[in-house]
Formats: sequence, C-alpha cells, structure tokens
Amino acid sequence: MLRKVALVTGAASGTGAATARALATDGYSVAILDRDEAGAQTVAQEIASQSSSTTVAITTDVSDPASVQASVNAAIKQFGRIDALVNNAGYGIAKGLEDTTDAEWDALMATNVKGAFLCARATVPHLRASEGTIVNIGSVAGQVGLRNRVAYCASKAAIHGLTKALAVDLAEDNIRVNAVAPGTVMGPYYDNLRDDGESTEVFHQRLAARQLMGRCGTPEEIAAAVAFLVGPTSSFATGTILVVDGGLSAQ
Ligand SMILES: NC(=O)c1ccc[n+]([C@@H]2O[C@H](COP(=O)([O-])OP(=O)(O)OC[C@H]3O[C@@H](n4cnc5c(N)ncnc54)[C@H](O)[C@@H]3O)[C@@H](O)[C@H]2O)c1
Repeated sequence: MLRKVALVTGAASGTGAATARALATDGYSVAILDRDEAGAQTVAQEIASQSSSTTVAITTDVSDPASVQASVNAAIKQFGRIDALVNNAGYGIAKGLEDTTDAEWDALMATNVKGAFLCARATVPHLRASEGTIVNIGSVAGQVGLRNRVAYCASKAAIHGLTKALAVDLAEDNIRVNAVAPGTVMGPYYDNLRDDGESTEVFHQRLAARQLMGRCGTPEEIAAAVAFLVGPTSSFATGTILVVDGGLSAQ
C-alpha cells in the first residue's frame, strides 16, 4: 500500500520534530523542511532508525519562494504525492512597539506568515490530487495579546486568519485546513524570549505560572493535536483553531 506523505516545516527542532515523529508513527512518510540542514538530517535519521517510515530532510528557507518550490519539487520527486502540509516553522522575538525594528518585523513576518502562505501555495496542486490537509501552527499569541510580543502576536493572528481563509477557499477541493494554537512549550525557541537580565529559574517559573495547569506544555502534547487534525478522525473539522495551552487563554 502506498504510504501517505506529510511535509513538516521547521521540523529540525521542538514541536516540528515531535510532529514528524508522531506522523511517522501514524504511518506517514515524512519530509522535514528546515533551514537547519544538520538538525533536519539528525531528526530524519533518528526517525528512520526507530520506524519503518521513509523520512527525508530537505533544506528549505520557508521565507524564500524559490527555496519552497524547489523543496516541494524534491518531495514530489522522492514520494510522488503530498497528503499533508504542516506549517510549523516560526519564531518569536521579545520586543514591544518601539523596540521592534523594521528589519525584525519584516524577517519575522517573512518566516511566520509569508512562509506558511508560500508553502500552502506550492503544495496545493498536490493536496488537490490527494484531497489532503493543511495544519498551521498558530499560537495563543494569535488569540490574546501577550506582553512584549508585538510582531509575534500580529504574525500568529495572521496565521489564524490565513487558516480560516484557506479553509473557505479549499473546501470545494475537499482540502481541510486547520490550526493548532499552542500555549507555552519549553524549548530552544524560548532562549530568544527571556526578558533582559532575567535568570533562567525566574524565567521558567514565570512561564509555567502563565498556564492554569502550572506548567509548560511539551512538544509531544502539541504534536498529538497536530496529528489529530492531519488524520482521518478529524474528518469533519476545517477552519478550526484548536487551542492547546494548559488554560492560558481561558483566564
Ligand atoms: N514554543 C512555544 O511556546 C510556542 C508556543 C506557541 C506557538 N509556537 C510555534 O510553534 C512553532 C514551532 O516552535 P518551536 O517552539 O518548536 O521552535 P524551535 O525553535 O524549536 O523550532 C523552530 C524550527 O523552525 C526552523 N525555522 C525557523 N525559521 C525558518 C525558516 N525561515 N525556514 C525554515 N525553517 C525555519 C528552525 O530552524 C527550527 O528548526 C513556531 O511556529 C512557533 O511560533 C511555539
């Protein structure tokens, strides 16, 4: 039987890597698209050694249209089909309105927002053929305002809007489009988000306290939600923003 194929961006690390592992466990062949070539290779090799999934690493800068198209072409050459796209590549910066430079705003939007748009546009002909699905990684920062995260909150609200707009446009092609909005998930990502002069211990306590559950989430807890939205058990869900945040945004 032909295996289904998933493309996961930003899968060299964190939630993307956990999602690649979860989808491989669910029987997908996985293409890991990341600008971190060595990290993507490491994750691909690790998955290949632990499962029967064919997993490839494809060096990609999601903010670059030529790079995205070349990566989708490479995935098609390797697998012949694409059934799922997970737009996960992204990052945050801990800056407020007057501290955020034009260059920082443009670079963040180019990865977090334009990257998802470019990857969706390049894969949609193949998703039409497979009646596939897109899952975007948004954030609670797209639902509520978080202190000192001006560009990041704007970028994740845009991802939630993109999710709903694509769900509307692509429904007639039987392509479902959903998003997962994670709360705080500890990982390398957070190294960028510490306030000036804050110790690691105080920073971690502050992050954990934001959730009703008093702890941060794990990449695996987010990946499980992504795998649900990719898979057939979510067959009636499209245009959904599935918040998985330990209760952060319920307050
Ligand atoms: N960590 C959190 O608390 C949290 C919360 C909500 C949402 N998110 C979102 O989850 C996603 C994954 O975050 P994470 O915590 O796993 O981060 P991470 O830093 O561990 O992983 C992000 C990956 O994206 C890759 N990447 C960044 N820019 C890229 C580009 N232009 N092209 C290709 N690859 C690129 C990086 O190389 C890295 O491998 C992001 O979209 C992030 O905004 C994270």
